[in-house]
Amino acid sequence: MKVYNIAIDGPAGAGKSTVAKMAAARLGFVYVDTGSMYRALALYFMRLSIKPGDMSAIGDALAGIDVTLSHRGGEQVVLLNGEDVSQFLRAQEVGDMASAFSPLAPVREKLLFLQRELAERTSVIMDGRDIGTTVLPNADLKIYLTADAKVRAGRRYKELLERGAECDEEEILKGILARDAQDMEREISPLRQAQDAVLLDASYMTVDEVVSFIVNLARERCGL
Ligand code: DC
Repeated sequence: MKVYNIAIDGPAGAGKSTVAKMAAARLGFVYVDTGSMYRALALYFMRLSIKPGDMSAIGDALAGIDVTLSHRGGEQVVLLNGEDVSQFLRAQEVGDMASAFSPLAPVREKLLFLQRELAERTSVIMDGRDIGTTVLPNADLKIYLTADAKVRAGRRYKELLERGAECDEEEILKGILARDAQDMEREISPLRQAQDAVLLDASYMTVDEVVSFIVNLARERCGL
């Protein structure tokens, strides 16, 4: 059976995982959230109090880490050395640490291999920062999904308020801009629109509009 690969890249908070998950369900593809793999590695380092500058400890730790993606009840779960750590991965500080560890070559190498292996076996929609540029350069469809930083901050603010968290919209915007800079300015596999990616600015689109756009384009490109 032919395997199809769709890459969705873009900055934090653009809605990649929400739309990728929905589009994957409509196409019958597996959704692979590569950010969660970086988050799992960051969680492991945080638990051992390893800092992003400590290359020798990072090297030693990487040799003993196994990150696996599995699916339970249709949801992706992340197993870190067999432990389901999914519930810990969405915390703000884990995301920030994932961004801080992700520029490091050994960290990226470890995950690149795993991500390519997943995409060879099954049709996937994979989202992240470097999927179209580095992980799956021959993907059947590449989307660069972005949204205005203020819109992204506003959405995050609303989400947190709905969850009853105390937060400040200006602080959220600052955090988003810092994360954009860190992800775009790193040396290895920075966040960048691949030359052959379709740019989709979702600032003023609904989730359903974005999903339909991606699904229609995917069907056309993959002949489905
Ligand atoms: O998409 P996310 O917020 O879960 O990603 C967390 C961090 O992981 C992100 O700020 C940078 C890093 N990351 C990466 O470098 N490459 C990817 N393909 C996915 C995530």
